[in-house]
Amino acid sequence: MDYHEDSARGAWGSKLAFIFAAAGSAIGLGNIWRYPMMVGLNGGAIFVFVNILAVIFIGFTIMLAEFAIGRHTRKNPVGAFNAIKPGTPWKLVGYLNVAVGIGILSFYGVIAGWAVGYFFKAIAGAFSRDLSWKSSDAIFKNFSADPLVVFVCFFVIIALTVFIISKGIKGGIEKWSKILMPILFVLIIFLAIRALTLPGAGRGLAFYLKPDFSKFNFTVLFFAVAQAFFSLSIGNGSNDDLCQLSFKKRQPRLFDTLVAFLAGIIIFSTLFASPGIVPGEFKADTGLMFQVFPMVLSKMPGGYVFGVMFFTLLLVAVLTSTLSLLEVPTAFLVDEKKWTRMKAATFLGALAFIVGIPSALSNGGVKLFTKWGVMIKMDFIFISLGLTVGALFISVFLGYAWGVKNALKEISFGNSRFKLKFLWIFNVKYLAPVVIVIILIVITNIF
Ligand code: PHE
Repeated sequence: MDYHEDSARGAWGSKLAFIFAAAGSAIGLGNIWRYPMMVGLNGGAIFVFVNILAVIFIGFTIMLAEFAIGRHTRKNPVGAFNAIKPGTPWKLVGYLNVAVGIGILSFYGVIAGWAVGYFFKAIAGAFSRDLSWKSSDAIFKNFSADPLVVFVCFFVIIALTVFIISKGIKGGIEKWSKILMPILFVLIIFLAIRALTLPGAGRGLAFYLKPDFSKFNFTVLFFAVAQAFFSLSIGNGSNDDLCQLSFKKRQPRLFDTLVAFLAGIIIFSTLFASPGIVPGEFKADTGLMFQVFPMVLSKMPGGYVFGVMFFTLLLVAVLTSTLSLLEVPTAFLVDEKKWTRMKAATFLGALAFIVGIPSALSNGGVKLFTKWGVMIKMDFIFISLGLTVGALFISVFLGYAWGVKNALKEISFGNSRFKLKFLWIFNVKYLAPVVIVIILIVITNIF
């Protein structure tokens, strides 16, 4: 999420009505659900360490590149590439962005649906008695394997997203999110304090914070970079005031990383404080957040109230993300293909829902999908590969096709930040593309 209102947002609903997705989309499941899962899957603290470097040196670099393109063109990705380099294949990158947005929304919507289900569980008091790992795990497995419940929740999320996008009232939700996100942040701090004071929390902390550098490899680097893109909402662009956001007032996006970091503290302290769960042996999965947050909530004084609040605020955060994911493809159809907003949003929402069906059934609904690990594969294809490839094209486009000189006209680093300008130019032209190409080569050999 973001704390700035910018002039571009006033253009909402007008002819150019594209906002290359608001920065308000940054905090969401990427921080609270995906980040801890990736930490768990990639060796703990080493991932945390590499991800922070990736956010600073690659994430912010590409974010700024996207802002420059967005600010210059004020268009959807296809229109934007077309405006700068008309009649070239660069617009295919725009199509890639559009497709990736729908692909991500398809399973992100399923997880968001799980959050809807857990919101109702919290209201029903499911997390008020002290939950062990075993019972919390059982609650999650029963829940996520029930196709009817999962589908209804998934549908609710997609329908709500389509409704808001087609009415063009996204700005309203974002205003609410600005007010509510600081509350979520405070709540997360409380939960982190509770988690840290659980007997045995130290084991989790060591896993989370003491990097074992011998565990570093290109797979870790790849996932750390991809997670940086996802968490910062890179790959569907943004049109905010870039100099403000990236350099003068970095808090909003640093805040994004901080929320993820705290979510990790909560999850690993609580998880490894449970008897029998051993770092190194434990295999993280898509359910991690849903298994562990209820445990810590159930151990809080006033856990019922905290639980209801937590899942309410989480849903607001999630909704700002699903809105951004749907907005980009919708703007494409509206601006380039002259569809009405209503038709575009409904069509794309239905598409995301259909594409999401295997993911929705992959936690026990259909055995074959479970065996294939459909959800985690979708995540790999659309987030890890999709956003990374998208980011590569953006850096190459900016560095070599459009040219940093032109991009710099859109970016003001301010006088005092003279050195940052050169760091950014170096990063966008050399560091980011080289690192991304290397990790893509390594990873496609592995998989
Ligand atoms: N950053 C969002 C999150 O953390 C996800 C997102 C990615 C939203 C890309 C829009 C575009 O949940």
